[in-house]
Amino acid sequence: MAVKSLKVCATGSVANVSCGFDCIGYAIAKPADTLTIKTKDSPGVDITLSGSKADTIPAAAKYNTAGKAILSLLNSLGIDQGFNVHIEKGVPPSSGLGSSAASAAAAVVGVNELLGNPLKLEELLVHGMAGEAVASGEFHADNIAPALFGGIILIRSYDPLDILQLPVPENLFSTVVLPDFVINTRDARKIMPNRVPLKSAVEQAGNLAGFTHGLHNADFNLLGRSMVDLFAEPVRAELIPGYHLVQKASMDAGAIGCGISGSGPALFALSDSEEKAKKVGIAMVGAFKKNELNSTAYSSSIHKKSPEIMD
Ligand code: HSE
Repeated sequence: MAVKSLKVCATGSVANVSCGFDCIGYAIAKPADTLTIKTKDSPGVDITLSGSKADTIPAAAKYNTAGKAILSLLNSLGIDQGFNVHIEKGVPPSSGLGSSAASAAAAVVGVNELLGNPLKLEELLVHGMAGEAVASGEFHADNIAPALFGGIILIRSYDPLDILQLPVPENLFSTVVLPDFVINTRDARKIMPNRVPLKSAVEQAGNLAGFTHGLHNADFNLLGRSMVDLFAEPVRAELIPGYHLVQKASMDAGAIGCGISGSGPALFALSDSEEKAKKVGIAMVGAFKKNELNSTAYSSSIHKKSPEIMD
């Protein structure tokens, strides 16, 4: 049988967005992963990797987020078609920028396309989540859903899955700043509290509602007031040297709000113009530098596209 092949690109994402632990995430335009996927005559998924910290990622399909997502998809369809997959990592692993989700999202979109699109985009989500779970040890969709659907996503419920696309106000820009060290999502989830005080739960619920209302009304002031995290930030900030100084630097430079991107170590900030998003990035990189940490800033609009098939 003739080999069919394609290239597919999926971008990084910011999960939690401060007030939405495990239930809000948005896609960013860069960095991104590029996968080359080819059909092969024998069954199984063979993976090779290159790019950012690729040597830290397992290539065995069942331990690889893209591989596991493909196996889950093939299993659900009862198909034993084999694939060769090359993953060019643009999103550094263990960065807090949705690295495993980018690979998993590109993998399920690419394989589905090569199979003639038997599944709808929404139906690919559970398979992407199965891939994501390999890296984090648990199911969460706040990176994989934005990587698959683009935009700002609310996961209203996990059981049953209920995914909502939130409006993206014009002039909303994102900055992510990645310091030069890694935090494993699995480890960052282990330190999360099993219980939170009722008072914190009430405040977090109010902020999450305020954040979604702010998006609907393009009310940047309300967005900023709502970007407070009482669940993850109190325990995870300790993992990031100079966290509160970098956060303050972003606010002093005019950000709407700033917090930990996913499980870190990247921080994200939202701004009301492209110029401010760049300025905020420069300020955050400078603040990390004061803590003797090199970091890289990426600023972009909110990425509104699903993974793109390139050829
Ligand atoms: N919501 C997840 C967490 C995102 O914070 O553990 C991981 O990137």
